Amino acid sequence: MPRYLAKRRLVRRGAPPHSAMACRTLELDELLAKAQNEFQQQFGARPDIAAAAPGRVNLIGEHTDYNDGFVLPMALPMVTVVVGRKTSDGRCTVATAVPEADEPRRVSFSVPSKQPLLPGSPKWANYVKGVIANFHAASAVEGFEAVILTTVPLGGGLSSSASLEVATYTFLEALTNNQSKQLKDKALACQKAEHDFAGVPCGIMDQFISVMGKKGNALLIDCKSLEAELVPLDDPKVAILVTNSNVHHNLGSSEYPVRRRQCEEAARILKKPSLRATKLEELMAQEKTMDEVIFKRALHVIGEIRRTEQAALALRVGDNAWLGRLMNESHQSLRYDYEVSCPELDLLVDYANEVEGVWGSRMTGGGFGGCTVTLVNQDAVDKVIANISSKYPGKATFYVATPSDGAQIVKL
Ligand code: GLA
Repeated sequence: MPRYLAKRRLVRRGAPPHSAMACRTLELDELLAKAQNEFQQQFGARPDIAAAAPGRVNLIGEHTDYNDGFVLPMALPMVTVVVGRKTSDGRCTVATAVPEADEPRRVSFSVPSKQPLLPGSPKWANYVKGVIANFHAASAVEGFEAVILTTVPLGGGLSSSASLEVATYTFLEALTNNQSKQLKDKALACQKAEHDFAGVPCGIMDQFISVMGKKGNALLIDCKSLEAELVPLDDPKVAILVTNSNVHHNLGSSEYPVRRRQCEEAARILKKPSLRATKLEELMAQEKTMDEVIFKRALHVIGEIRRTEQAALALRVGDNAWLGRLMNESHQSLRYDYEVSCPELDLLVDYANEVEGVWGSRMTGGGFGGCTVTLVNQDAVDKVIANISSKYPGKATFYVATPSDGAQIVKL
């Protein structure tokens, strides 16, 4: 756990007391102050440009984005910030103050107009380089110094990578005074950075919500048309509890591309452009002719796309029981058909569901570790935390998540 997420029995300033037992996330101004101090130490000056972009938690719609399906994430109060200043030395010099980042923690490379950027080591810098290379006004980047800091837990399935990409992109927009005309293009450029520079064939969900999140809302994203609808998520009686299993199985990175290929294969067998375009009956009619694993993968995706559309409706009409049921079904489908859960996540879901006042719970993100998301009555949050803490064999951490805004340029 990053040191600045240290558990403190404090409530968020200015916000209602959600839970005395959950972790407190640093407020943006506190995080920026730390980043500015770090910049002063690294570069001996004050930064004058700052950008922030959030991580996300996905309520439902897992492994559907790269199948042209629906997803229903919300932006988190946890953000990555990039602070810095312009230089004219033709170099980008970036330091990370994130304790988990690989060494070296400071890198310097030529601006893209002088020398094409290539991925390499350290790994964290690939996200920055990838975004610069895919920035719509890359030739206008003449040089800068910057520091990165985050409150998004790394490897927790809460999109720390996307938040770094989108924060970097937003920083470059401020640096060059050249904002992306289309927010979709900004998200797509950040996704491309992850594909080409981090080698992860991710879908569009994480970058999209980090760019477009809105306070008080989840976002129903149609990953085929890239159209999105806000879905209010502001019932004061209900909380979104994020529980970090604090396990990170390496399998995640190798199995993700395998799942993607299996879905493509299923669509090919079914003679469809994608699993989004496939009806459940069409899949069932082919069950005998398909490999069992490929069939199960498609079954999850087709069911999950439907569940996600229903979940948006459930949220709109305020039917927590329905939404919770869909979340539980999603988890079982991810566990048994898509096979991306792990024992720790299954335990967290089971322990959450034991508590009265819990509507539903599921793993969130790519899987094989990371976090669960639980829909729970506000007055039952601490009971869930206590139940999980007393039974979970590892050390879980808890965050009460409020739906927050997407990326922003911050005035220092
Ligand atoms: C990761 C990817 C997303 C999405 C999820 C699974 O977070 O980055 O694009 O595929 O896994 O839903």
